[in-house]
Amino acid sequence: MEKPNLGATLVTGGSGAIGSRLVRRLLDDGAESVLVVDDLSSGYPWLLPDDHRVILIERDVCGLAGLKLTVQKPLVFHLAAFFANQNSVDHPMDDLHTNGQGTVSTLLWSAKNQARRLVYASAGCSIAGHGIDAPIQEDMPVSLHLDTPYQITKALGEFYCNYFLPQVSTVRCRFFNSYGPGEVPGRYRNVIPNFIWRALHNQPLIITGTGEETRDFIYVDDLVDGLMRCATIESAHGDAFNLGTGKQTRVIDLANMIIKTCQSKSTIEYVPRRSWDHSVRRQADNSKAVTKLGLKPSVGLAEGIERTVDWFREYRDSIEKAMEKNP
Ligand SMILES: NC(=O)c1ccc[n+]([C@@H]2O[C@H](COP(=O)([O-])OP(=O)(O)OC[C@H]3O[C@@H](n4cnc5c(N)ncnc54)[C@H](O)[C@@H]3O)[C@@H](O)[C@H]2O)c1
Repeated sequence: MEKPNLGATLVTGGSGAIGSRLVRRLLDDGAESVLVVDDLSSGYPWLLPDDHRVILIERDVCGLAGLKLTVQKPLVFHLAAFFANQNSVDHPMDDLHTNGQGTVSTLLWSAKNQARRLVYASAGCSIAGHGIDAPIQEDMPVSLHLDTPYQITKALGEFYCNYFLPQVSTVRCRFFNSYGPGEVPGRYRNVIPNFIWRALHNQPLIITGTGEETRDFIYVDDLVDGLMRCATIESAHGDAFNLGTGKQTRVIDLANMIIKTCQSKSTIEYVPRRSWDHSVRRQADNSKAVTKLGLKPSVGLAEGIERTVDWFREYRDSIEKAMEKNP
């Protein structure tokens, strides 16, 4: 992909798992500056690269609209979020606060500061609702029967992105399951970091369900590449794109792959599926992103897992400390 002039950029949630990888990519691609707005609730400064162009503004994204920042027509990536489904079930008010007000605040700030574009982090589990068999297309009817507050507020963000379109050029990205370096395990985090952590400690891997459930796992840097395309390709204006690989993997196969890669003695245990989780098979139909954006997820699952395990080994101590804060 040819590198456009990125100029100034702002990333909400830039200290998080995906945000910190995006910040690296922005620097590699020659961004003049990267402002990171993050309250560090699930993000960590040590994930950010040491570069004078990165400025971390530690605060609640809901206050962004009132912030005066010296920045010329930035590209904005809105990734700050209360993550994710189970967390929102346990704490629906916090979910609405960050994912609802935080998105409106970011849109208001972007309008006032003449953002060239705002790329919004939506979710593949949102919009279409339960009972949808894979693969999920972007233009499926929007459901009023979503499974969790998180899905509702991710959809809400998409409504606001469309509402603000006359003032801000928004693009809505529906992420499928991201994984890779940068994601610290924890109770509310995704399956891959949790499996890897447990495998490295020879603890049982806990599958919620039968293991036959499938998800579409996309390597974080491939997803970030999709975000860059959404930010810089003119014709993406106002559109929505699935960012996934278009491939399903069974959770049991994932568990076995991780045990093998970690050379672990872990066993596999099963507990009942979580009450809100009605998605048995999930897969992105990514053909629109492939055709219109040139998206090419290039890191296969085995290679991606290996890279992630290497990252866990390198940052073991920092990860352990982070898990004390967010168990
Ligand atoms: N990881 C996935 O598989 C996945 C899937 C679908 C959608 N998404 C979306 O992608 C985005 C990034 O996800 P992630 O996996 O990097 O999660 P993350 O939790 O690692 O990153 C979110 C970041 O937002 C920050 N944050 C939270 N509340 C905030 C607030 N009130 N004010 C300022 N900052 C706040 C956190 O500190 C963190 O750094 C989120 O919007 C998430 O909903 C992620």
